[in-house]
Amino acid sequence: MAKNSLEKFTEGVRSIWGPLSSEVVAGCRQHFVELLKAPATEEWLAALHREAPANKELYRDPTHGFVLLAHTEHAGLYRPPHDHGRGWVIYAMQQGEIEMGTYARIEDPEGNVKLVKRDSTLVRRGQVQVYLPGDIHDTRCISGPALLFRFTERDLKKEDKEEHRLTRYVERDGVWTIGAP
Ligand SMILES: [Fe+2]
Repeated sequence: MAKNSLEKFTEGVRSIWGPLSSEVVAGCRQHFVELLKAPATEEWLAALHREAPANKELYRDPTHGFVLLAHTEHAGLYRPPHDHGRGWVIYAMQQGEIEMGTYARIEDPEGNVKLVKRDSTLVRRGQVQVYLPGDIHDTRCISGPALLFRFTERDLKKEDKEEHRLTRYVERDGVWTIGAP
């Protein structure tokens, strides 16, 4: 039986997998560009559009541990600034538009932390964004329902709930900073 675009994607990523490098990122990005061209008639994609799950795991690699998720977001949904612990992630837009901002973490001599926004990008259908370890970003769905793929180099739930490596920032007096310990 012919392979669908999702199977081709996961096989493609497996074939170029290795420790984080420019080549691995470029390879994953290329496979995402192909995945985003999948015809809407493929059953797995048709089901995502039909069921519009907030969060669905599409694939988990038994050898390398990377995970591919799909998210449906409605216009206005905001996810505050966060990093991804030791992981790196790729976001790929299948439908809709999401604004993604990036931030640097600045610490003053007293040790107070604040985020400084670097820029924001409107990510549209067919576009791909990469966030490497240490990168901090937020997302706001501008036009929905948006369907995006989120590829994570490792299980970020574990990285968050078990390893406590993710940092989420909170807004205080108009400034993004770290939450109370
Ligand atoms: Fe993220």
